[in-house]
Amino acid sequence: MKLFKLFKNTFAMAVFLSAIWLLFTWSNLGMLSIQTDSRSIPVAVKNKLCNVNFNDERPHITNSTSLKMIYYVTPTYPRPEQVPELTRLAHTLMHVPRIHWIVADDQPLCSDQVSSVLRRTGLPYTHISSPKPFIYKSTNFPRGVANRRVALNWLQENVAEGVLYFGDDDNTVDLRLFDELRNTKKVSMFPVGLIGEYGVSSPIVKDGKVVGFFDSWPASRTFPVDMAGFAVNIEFLKETANMPFIAGHEEDRFLVSLDLKVEDIEPLAANCTKVLVWHTKTVKHKKPTLKININKLNTISKYQNFVNLLKETSRLGMAEVNAEAGIKSYVTRNRKTSETLADIL
Ligand code: UGA
Ligand code: MN
Repeated sequence: MKLFKLFKNTFAMAVFLSAIWLLFTWSNLGMLSIQTDSRSIPVAVKNKLCNVNFNDERPHITNSTSLKMIYYVTPTYPRPEQVPELTRLAHTLMHVPRIHWIVADDQPLCSDQVSSVLRRTGLPYTHISSPKPFIYKSTNFPRGVANRRVALNWLQENVAEGVLYFGDDDNTVDLRLFDELRNTKKVSMFPVGLIGEYGVSSPIVKDGKVVGFFDSWPASRTFPVDMAGFAVNIEFLKETANMPFIAGHEEDRFLVSLDLKVEDIEPLAANCTKVLVWHTKTVKHKKPTLKININKLNTISKYQNFVNLLKETSRLGMAEVNAEAGIKSYVTRNRKTSETLADIL
């Protein structure tokens, strides 16, 4: 009898937990929200428009309104490398006239660090917080898709003309590319360096027309190109434009959803003979935990500035500081003496 009761309780608990799990998954998929636009499912659940600035506040740039606006869409996510990547990219974009930077951050909050980078550029920008749905938090998930979809929605609701370009936060772009892609009529394409096993991914061009593609991972794609290898005129961005949550197929499916024909592709970069963008990758830094009692350290006057540095380091997500656990760290005074911060007090 006792055994039966135990079994009944365990069963009830399992049913209860499954119900909670289902509810959580559904809410992440947007099934519980009232949505008519299928493009916003599942990402419309927790997105936040953090800030929009339409003014160009760069004193060093002369902006001629006859130039088409470039909308540079960057998915990004919190990690120790986020601020340095965005800083480097910002310093490229700050040289480009008539550009609006859409930064869609894969986290539920409007990050102060990201806001601060954006504000200091003087660029027109849109800052969106667009966390990926819970179900994509596994390995080999499609990266940057939820964010790009939210950016697309924002563009479709707020912008009537210009050129859209997807630029990941870790790519490297030659300034000459911007002059070229600004003239995109429908969809332009160009080579991307450091892709896959061929070292480059590019359309092959004959007499000004695309006749094939050179990419080491064809994978039955109609357009085997990298995300950084094409730009789209916003007037060509149809209602049907969509990017699926399918790792490796985002670019192809997106271009197919635009109803693009191979003969419509406008080759850039001197008929795809020059490389003006690279798919660079930054080595990932494992975030250490430092065993330091920051409150106690703060009571020592000579360490006030140092305490602030530790706080900044932890704010930027480069290291955790913990009073109880973590690696021992030392302050070096001269070549012979050093003191352990863990036992300092
Ligand atoms: C390559 C392509 O360049 C991406 O455009 C494509 O989305 C990705 O593969 C894919 O198919 O999954 P890769 O360099 O391998 O990108 O990946 P990451 O640089 O790690 O991520 C691509 C973009 O998504 C970056 O801008 C990154 O900041 C962002 N991302 C990554 C997120 O927003 N969330 C994540 O959890 C991871
Ligand atoms: Mn990348």
